Amino acid sequence: MKYKRNLIALLLAGTFFSASAQQEDLIVVNAAKSEGKVSATMWGVFFEDINMGADGGIYAEMVKNRSFEFLKPLMGWSVKGNKIGEGDLLVQNRQGANLANPRFLSVAIKGAAKGEAGISNEGFKGGMGVKKGLKYDFSLMYRQVSPGITLHVELVDEENKVLASGLLKPTDVPAEWKSQDLSFIAVATSAKARINIWFEGSGVLDMDMISLFPADTWKGRKKGMRGDMIQMLADMKPGFVRFPGGCIVEGIDLANRYQWKKTIGPIAERQLIMNRWNVEFSHRPSPDYFQTFGLGFFEYFQLAEDIGAEALPILNCGMACQFNTAEVVPLDQLDPYIQDALDLIEFANGDVSSEWGKVRAAMGHAEPFNMKYLGVGNENWGPQYIERAKAFQQAIKAKYPKINLIYSSGTDPDSERFHYLDKELRGMKADIIDEHYYRSPEWFLKNAARYDHYDRQGAKVFAGEFAAHIKGKATGSNRNIWEAALAEAAFMTGLERNAAVVNMASYAPLFANTEGWQWAPDLIWVDNLNIYGTPNYYVQKLFSTNKGTQVASALFEGKSLSGQGGLYVSAVLDSIKKEVIVKLVNTNETERTKQIAFEGIKKLAAEGKLTTVKGELTAQNSMESPSAIVPAESLLKLKGKNAVVKMPANSLIMLKVSYK
Ligand code: AHR
Repeated sequence: MKYKRNLIALLLAGTFFSASAQQEDLIVVNAAKSEGKVSATMWGVFFEDINMGADGGIYAEMVKNRSFEFLKPLMGWSVKGNKIGEGDLLVQNRQGANLANPRFLSVAIKGAAKGEAGISNEGFKGGMGVKKGLKYDFSLMYRQVSPGITLHVELVDEENKVLASGLLKPTDVPAEWKSQDLSFIAVATSAKARINIWFEGSGVLDMDMISLFPADTWKGRKKGMRGDMIQMLADMKPGFVRFPGGCIVEGIDLANRYQWKKTIGPIAERQLIMNRWNVEFSHRPSPDYFQTFGLGFFEYFQLAEDIGAEALPILNCGMACQFNTAEVVPLDQLDPYIQDALDLIEFANGDVSSEWGKVRAAMGHAEPFNMKYLGVGNENWGPQYIERAKAFQQAIKAKYPKINLIYSSGTDPDSERFHYLDKELRGMKADIIDEHYYRSPEWFLKNAARYDHYDRQGAKVFAGEFAAHIKGKATGSNRNIWEAALAEAAFMTGLERNAAVVNMASYAPLFANTEGWQWAPDLIWVDNLNIYGTPNYYVQKLFSTNKGTQVASALFEGKSLSGQGGLYVSAVLDSIKKEVIVKLVNTNETERTKQIAFEGIKKLAAEGKLTTVKGELTAQNSMESPSAIVPAESLLKLKGKNAVVKMPANSLIMLKVSYK
């Protein structure tokens, strides 16, 4: 009898124990409890011409300094052969006739055979990436001062082996500028090719805009963007594209600021300026970094449209970079800056009969771009910023009340400077406040609940630039390790949970060239031929392509899970695809198991799709090993409305289940 009583007691205890253990491990996802909408713009991309992002990056031009407008006009060029003597090659200036692109190269040739007199361009960063079997389009503007020169154009590899070649015979009326082009197909691949232009015959030829593009550009557009780089963006299905920065919006001084009007219209008339990252870091000098603006605001709008993202331009607000000159425009001279913003809205959205809508239509886009967002300044701060932001707000809202204006909250998320700006901006009923954080992985882990208590009724938040920076010197992509990406993923569950207030987020910077970077870590690394996504890229892509339409409550012991026991959770519903999506991050060194109970859903599929991203904290992707850290897919059987999810050490897990 005593034995029987003990057994019952033991069984009861056992039942109680296992029920309590289950309780402890239970995450309840309640689809009926919506915690707000997930904005279609939730996850986007931040593009800046940094790290050779535009020139030498997504802008597929292969000739460096094509118009001889760099500070040193022959930078990137060298003379070849022994028949070009003193004074035969001259940089000349149109002296006002073409203010945007005044310089050109004049060459005088006296009886040269092929191989005796020529010029050669080294391309961006150590050479040009040339691919076997691909067509290349060469073009130039020229003027025959004294006819009689034929051009032999060739691509050669590092050993001077010819990869492609063609003949260009100027055919025009002498003394008038014209353009001519030539295409050829490469017979071999080289990562460090260069272009030679040999002059044959006798005569004097003026040349400008010497250009070479591959044919495999994005959407096959002539003189367009590098296809593989844009494809990586398109694959993320970003909700927005922020452009053109970043610090280049501000400029080192106001003269060096980004001015969108100088980036549209015929390419030969877009005035080049020095890229501020040219001189920004003395330990990463980039003397050959300029902004040619072959890629300008029209192309950015078109890019956003192509990949189904909202365009999000950021404009200078009358303040240069406050880490540099901190030059400001006096308030009574701010009007041209505000006018630039008003004109941009007309350029993007105006009818073809409007002044700027007409310019857009002339560039080939009669339909409006339907721009909805506009940023006023980047990383500006202080009362000077607030004064200028108010002036922009007043003028823009008066004319375009529906445009959502985005304002800067400075450079960091928790300083006195930040709190001052945040308060002032909320006071002026800002639509969206742009917060930036380049912080340690620990900061990201600790701040996953940052937005849990933000005011739901006030300004929305744009997490406009963020990246976890591990300790240690950047030597390239060495800081794009799984530890950083995992901390970002943990933090992003907090952004997702708070999608009611955080409407936009973007990792920064986006691209970096392995041989031409100034700032690291970065999301995507490229060289002349190759590209790979970092672990951080796969985290961004996973969130962005699984953003859902509304936040579902995901509670553990009645609270959201944002770091307790090293775990982080968020959940969304996709009411269009009819899916419930749970994202979990385990930052422990050992596996964890959680049971997820789905509530508020009538019928769930019998199995769900599990995506796992995991690895050693120090693991990273590279050109040689681009898939060391990538998502892996598997299936998970559910037990009714419950799923048991095993989370490997240091992993990001996503469970996606269809519902009816
Ligand atoms: O993303 C790199 C730089 O970081 C951006 O240009 C600037 O906005 C920030 O300081």
